[in-house]
Amino acid sequence: MRFSTLSSKKILLGVTGSIAAYKAVELVRELSRQGASVTVVATKNAGEFIGAVTFHAVSGSAVYTDLFGMPAEPAPHINLPRQADAVVIAPATANFIGKMAHGIADDLLSTIVLAAQKPILVCPAMNSAMYEHPAMKGNLEQLRKYGYRIVEPETGPLACGDEGPGRLAEPSTICEAVKIVLEKKDLQGQKILVTAGPTEEPIDPVRFISNRSSGKMGDSLARVAKRRGAEVVLISGPTCLSKPWGIEFVPVRTAAEMYKAVLSYFDWATIVIKAAAVADYGLSTVLPQKLKKGTPDLSLKLTRTPDILKELGKRKKRQILVGFAAESKNLIAEARRKLQEKNLDLIVANDITVPGAGFGFDTNQVNIITADGEVFDSPLLDKEEIAYIILDKVLEVLQRSRGKS
Ligand code: CTP
Repeated sequence: MRFSTLSSKKILLGVTGSIAAYKAVELVRELSRQGASVTVVATKNAGEFIGAVTFHAVSGSAVYTDLFGMPAEPAPHINLPRQADAVVIAPATANFIGKMAHGIADDLLSTIVLAAQKPILVCPAMNSAMYEHPAMKGNLEQLRKYGYRIVEPETGPLACGDEGPGRLAEPSTICEAVKIVLEKKDLQGQKILVTAGPTEEPIDPVRFISNRSSGKMGDSLARVAKRRGAEVVLISGPTCLSKPWGIEFVPVRTAAEMYKAVLSYFDWATIVIKAAAVADYGLSTVLPQKLKKGTPDLSLKLTRTPDILKELGKRKKRQILVGFAAESKNLIAEARRKLQEKNLDLIVANDITVPGAGFGFDTNQVNIITADGEVFDSPLLDKEEIAYIILDKVLEVLQRSRGKS
């Protein structure tokens, strides 16, 4: 990817003494892969799980463990956070969170936390009984009051054999949380409804009609909008993607379910982006039993599903409406027709015959057309980069519409 929120960002990663410390190694790699430079500060107990040599190897930087004894850095508790863009504590143990909540500074990392005037993210990892203890809840509440971001642990099997909340969030989730903290907030105040993925129109209990949409374009739009400060709701048909962190996620299956969900959020939204590939036809009555093979040919009577975007176009008051048009011929003419027919402010057209563009790919190449007739052609880029470009154009349309009113 050519562009990343984490490019040239400096992350100070504090690692404390949990079995999940091994995941911090993966986190360093993920942050570095996305362009950040990472400096690790490990507590004495973290060293019981992962040696400094490992962190040095993956980060390419010196690893700090002590307040004293590194002549090149006379006051590391002041200088390290000063040089960083954000401080991430992952994994954060119950003990370390307790120390943070009470302002205890008895080693390098806890002293850094007190001295840091940068965003601090705390990623707890511990046994579920410890995580659910009232003392822990109170301590986390205290950290929230200090303005620290908590990246909640996941629920699942724990290293101790128990099952419950307490697993350190995945490195990709922690990276996303760091991006949310560091991205410029030019969509602050906007409420963005994004739809993504295909819909599935059932035929019988085992079969359905659907399409090749992976949901990646809508997922990228939702994540990037969240990073840029918007409140985001993502309504998605069935995909293999995990629910994006920090975003209200509404899973749906059919076009009718998507229609209902979209309309229930429409009055709330200031911007609606309909990236979903909604199936245009389905069976009006789903067969209650599995369809058995018999005759050599089979005809199914399909009926139109509701055109969600067209309905929004009719109901639109102050919202900015963004549609998508995936075409295999007459790209611009078809996109313009849909823009007008559905009363849109902007349409994102893509030619599905271009290699690497559209359904199922990680990349896309789009033509963005505004209601004023402007056409912007993007190069073939990662879908996340395309999401930044689409949201830039939405912002332009929004600013223009504000200027008019
Ligand atoms: N759309 C929708 N509801 C539908 C069909 C489409 O909301 N039942 C939305 C899509 O999310 C997309 C836009 O309308 O933003 C255009 O979708 P597309 O399938 O390309 O266009 P259609 O209007 O269905 O026209 P056609 O299938 O004839 O190309």
